[in-house]
Amino acid sequence: MNRIFSGMQPTRQLHLGNYLGALKNWVALQNEYECIFCVVDLHALTIEHKPEVLRENIREVTAAYVAAGIDPEKNILFNQSTVTGHAELNWILACHTPLGWLNRMTQFKEKAGKHRENAVLGLYSYPTLMAADILLYKATHVPVGEDQKQHLELARDIAGAFNRYYGVEFFPQPEPQIMGEATRIMSLRDGTKKMSKSDESDYSRINLTDDADTIALKVRKAKTDPEPLPETVEDLEKRPEADNLVTIYAALTDSSRAQVLAQHAGSQFSAFKGALVDVAVSKLSPISAEMNRLLSDKAEIDRILKKGSDRANEIAAKNMDAIKDIVGLLRP
Ligand code: TYM
Repeated sequence: MNRIFSGMQPTRQLHLGNYLGALKNWVALQNEYECIFCVVDLHALTIEHKPEVLRENIREVTAAYVAAGIDPEKNILFNQSTVTGHAELNWILACHTPLGWLNRMTQFKEKAGKHRENAVLGLYSYPTLMAADILLYKATHVPVGEDQKQHLELARDIAGAFNRYYGVEFFPQPEPQIMGEATRIMSLRDGTKKMSKSDESDYSRINLTDDADTIALKVRKAKTDPEPLPETVEDLEKRPEADNLVTIYAALTDSSRAQVLAQHAGSQFSAFKGALVDVAVSKLSPISAEMNRLLSDKAEIDRILKKGSDRANEIAAKNMDAIKDIVGLLRP
């Protein structure tokens, strides 16, 4: 059986990278797979947060999923902390994960920065919780942006280590689905850095909740180079900012970079940015309007999450029992 699991952290607002690298693909995949989409609130505890803001962010990410087109009736949509199996399985998997594997994780190195001694244990063991998220449901496919590739490879390694240790074929090897043109959207201020929620400059990203004027301003201020747009994709290679804007345009219009260049080669950035603002506003405005509408009824969002959580728990509890039996934990 094919089953998708994927999630987003409710830390600050979702941005265009989250949308084009993941959420937009989820919307397409929900018709082909049984899907579980999670708001990974336990992961959000790995960085500094305020409880009242986190609570609202969980609702906001839920609203973004639904507003982007995820059907909460057809799919399971819930927040991670309501299913205790995630934290339980995290512990069991942690006991099968060599430190050497975690030491390789580049995201920890980036996030911990120079102050590694002060970084919290949760940030370090973040990837084992992510593996637990996926394996708890025996998910076979995981649609994510490129930055999650290393974490997924680790999840596959951990699944293999568990199966080998206990001599079982219990966990499948989850397949990453890194799809489309926009697997890695870059910062609008620096084409060599990933667009990220944690970038200090809000001008580095387009948030899903930005209004039309803000989107226009951010695109107009986006860093570019002085050359007009080239004819071929190869000519974008040494022009990271130009490549990024063409990639965003392509992903928003469901076309390829080559198709965008066929239409806009020779354009100056002033003109191309105008066209980009038009497509960004026309694609994102309906989503942010729908998010706002949904967020005006928090009880309804909580109802969606509760229902999803009940459905997720049903699968998780059954798998958790089987895992405890395999591991040798008595269930009297
Ligand atoms: P998070 O919350 O950082 O990002 C959510 C999704 O958005 C993708 N993404 C991007 N894609 C393209 N360009 C970008 N600039 C960009 N920035 C983010 C991410 O790849 C991701 O798909 N660890 C995960 C959350 C998680 C998870 C899971 C995902 C926890 N458990 C289990 C899948 C399965 C994360 O921090 O994503």
